[in-house]
Amino acid sequence: MAQKLRIAVLFGGRSGEHDVSLMSARSVLAVLDPEKYEVTQVGITLDGEWLNGDNTLESFAQGNTGKLNRVVLPSEPSHSALYILKQNGSGEMLEKLADVDVFFPVLHGPFGEDGTLQGLLELADVAYVGAGVAGSSVGMDKGIFKDVMRANGIPIVESLLVLRGEIEKDINAVIEQAEKIGAYPLFAKPANLGSSVGISKCNSRSDLGEGLMEAARYDRRIIIERGVGSVREIEVSVLGNENPQTSVCGEVLPSREFYSYESKYVDGTSGLIIPAQLPAEVSDRIREYAVRAYKAIDCAGMARADFFLNGETNQVYLNELNTLPGFTSISMYPKLWQASGLTYAQLVDRLIELALERKTQRDHTEHRRLA
Ligand SMILES: Nc1ncnc2c1ncn2[C@@H]1O[C@H](COP(=O)(O)OP(=O)(O)O)[C@@H](O)[C@H]1O
Ligand SMILES: [Mg+2]
Repeated sequence: MAQKLRIAVLFGGRSGEHDVSLMSARSVLAVLDPEKYEVTQVGITLDGEWLNGDNTLESFAQGNTGKLNRVVLPSEPSHSALYILKQNGSGEMLEKLADVDVFFPVLHGPFGEDGTLQGLLELADVAYVGAGVAGSSVGMDKGIFKDVMRANGIPIVESLLVLRGEIEKDINAVIEQAEKIGAYPLFAKPANLGSSVGISKCNSRSDLGEGLMEAARYDRRIIIERGVGSVREIEVSVLGNENPQTSVCGEVLPSREFYSYESKYVDGTSGLIIPAQLPAEVSDRIREYAVRAYKAIDCAGMARADFFLNGETNQVYLNELNTLPGFTSISMYPKLWQASGLTYAQLVDRLIELALERKTQRDHTEHRRLA
């Protein structure tokens, strides 16, 4: 019998989406076929420690990680393995835990989805699911992402990037500049976060003052954006490397005034409509923009492309690409694929194939001039 593919599933992590990641990982682990895969679980704590042991995921879910072992991925190539860091007298030693063919980060937000982890995986020269360093970090940074979209002629909402230092120095000058973007409501957002953390919808000048201060708690760089009127939120799933495919479109119906943190994770009543009720011309346009954006940031594996649609004019704006979208079996990303004919298990298999394909391409790339 052919050797099983050895997969390391990484979950948890240092971001505010730690708990969401545990839920996504539970779904992924449940469908990794034991006939095909040998799976090692690695939980990452909120402090950034990598851990493994019996029932790693359950230990994390119960907040009971004391009995787990510290795990290390060496940063140099040629190991393709995880090691346990063992206490050895007064020192520490490494003992091999598992050889790994493919790393599957099921991590959302900073330190998982933003290119930092991907940098480590590149240094270690291992195959991994999802976008590389640049695709991940551009997907995470709302400021740079918008500039790349503008350069590629993909419609986005008018916006302004300001630094925390400018807000601290003269907030009224920032507000004056922001008001040139358009009429209220304006949105204030930290450039590098997710889950709507630090985001405010500002209906007035005083709201904007508060919104800027709030966003500046979470990042040095802050985006101010014109609010889209009669907004509908349309999402599409993208899958592939150099020839990405798109799913049908879905629509999110937030339970609150906008798709805030509470609406996403507290209420549990935000609705998903799949497929979204849209004229074919509009959904075609959305899918085409999604593919162009995906290629523009050199995305790989998967992304969920989130759009704003003005419900009166049908004007479409790309909001963001999430390179490691929510991945529970009831999340939008896999549900859109399900509605497009790909089961959750098939999707996970395909992501692993794409990771191996990308690694093969990397192996065919010279990193220096050969004599
Ligand atoms: N320009 C905008 N116009 C209308 N609604 C917006 C706008 N920007 C953000 N929102 C609302 O705020 C939510 C979160 O913003 P988003 O940019 O998607 O941040 P995150 O990366 O945290 O998901 C959106 O899903 C939407 O409900
Ligand atoms: Mg969003």
